[in-house]
Amino acid sequence: MKVLVIGSGGREHALVWKISHSKKVKEIFALPGNSGMNELAKTIDIKASNIIEIADFAQEKKINLTVVGPELPLSLGIVDEFNRRNLKIFGPTQKAAMIESSKIFAKEFMKKNKIPTSDFQTFNYPNDAKEFLKNTQFPVVIKADGLAGGKGVFICNSIEPAEASINSIMIEKKFGKSGEQIIIEEYLSGQEMSFMIISDGKRAIPLVSSMDYKKIFDGDKGPNTGGMGAISPSPLSDKNLYTTIMKTIIIPTIEGMRLEGKEFRGVLYAGLMITSEGPRVLEYNVRLGDPETQTILLRLKSDLVELMEGSTDGSLFDIPVRWDDKVSGCVVVTSKGYPSKFETDKKIDGLERAKSLGVEIFHAGTILKDRSYHTSGGRVLNVCALSNNLKDAMKKIYDAISFIGYDNIYYRTDIGKVKK
Ligand SMILES: Nc1ncnc2c1ncn2[C@@H]1O[C@H](COP(=O)(O)OP(=O)(O)O)[C@@H](O)[C@H]1O
Ligand SMILES: [Mg+2]
Repeated sequence: MKVLVIGSGGREHALVWKISHSKKVKEIFALPGNSGMNELAKTIDIKASNIIEIADFAQEKKINLTVVGPELPLSLGIVDEFNRRNLKIFGPTQKAAMIESSKIFAKEFMKKNKIPTSDFQTFNYPNDAKEFLKNTQFPVVIKADGLAGGKGVFICNSIEPAEASINSIMIEKKFGKSGEQIIIEEYLSGQEMSFMIISDGKRAIPLVSSMDYKKIFDGDKGPNTGGMGAISPSPLSDKNLYTTIMKTIIIPTIEGMRLEGKEFRGVLYAGLMITSEGPRVLEYNVRLGDPETQTILLRLKSDLVELMEGSTDGSLFDIPVRWDDKVSGCVVVTSKGYPSKFETDKKIDGLERAKSLGVEIFHAGTILKDRSYHTSGGRVLNVCALSNNLKDAMKKIYDAISFIGYDNIYYRTDIGKVKK
């Protein structure tokens, strides 16, 4: 069969890699993809947000399964467009994707279905929001309703920064339409954890646990990034917690969405805070996490394509999922300055030597020029490994990274070590 993967990051390179192991798959396309995927997939120069052109492409090439990496095409209704044309695609419809693309929808959905989350209020006007702040306890968390590329959430310890956040979202309109409404919610303390499942609309099959490292500097310091590394399994996961999350969060979510006529197919990612009173949902995502996916796919023994087909066909129960008991890790190698300003177009040396240590290297921001890879983004490479224990996996990864060189290379040196 022919498979099309949409997206261009490390997560998508890992998807292409895993899909290439499926006996069923003859040909893989990546759209727009990145040059690191070229050995495994043909890259297609169409933007991931251009859903009509993508559907035209899939129709013309007779693609048998399309897999969507990022949330944007999902929130634009790519799955609906494919369904109208009878093309098979893995992911939720636009209506179901609202659980990520509207934080207000998600909060109201949780309230209605008694899914544990923090208290909240929603606002359409900045003055009402500011009025509310006068009688509230700090810290508060202020969130733009819509997609904001991970930049629309502000944790505010007092009234001044809270007002400034409201101004930037609602008056300066920093996130455009995504900031027309906001949420002010109760601040939760605890440890963060992500929990991903794959659903066919009725059933939910949990993926193995993972833990990501969001902050830019060692010791979890500095601003949030798209993700600087991950390990699987998560040191936080235990059987009781797992059962509570499935029972109080995942099952009611899948069931609630189905009963609302927003049947959820694809990957549901619950961003959780493990508080002293139990797990609470911070947000939902409707796709795989990056870089958690890289570590999870390294441990998946089953055929990923079969799982994705089971999700789209509503027949997940037929498919046994097998996981490797080993431990996996991923370190994201970036351009110094990320997540703010950074330079690109630096020649990358040592990739082959690094690979010879037995790691998997998934590309994110690279471009092939005069037969060598150059940097082209903030997150450049994902160096990943699977081993009998975490220490070995991380050693393998860091040994491999020591062979990789480019002008402004930066990565965290403590992935797998710190307890968040
Ligand atoms: N109610 C909350 N209490 C404490 N921290 C929060 C809360 N909501 C969000 N956060 C923090 O902000 C981060 C981003 O919030 P999230 O809702 O996941 O939005 P997004 O990923 O879309 O930016 C979370 O990972 C968490 O660290
Ligand atoms: Mg989040």
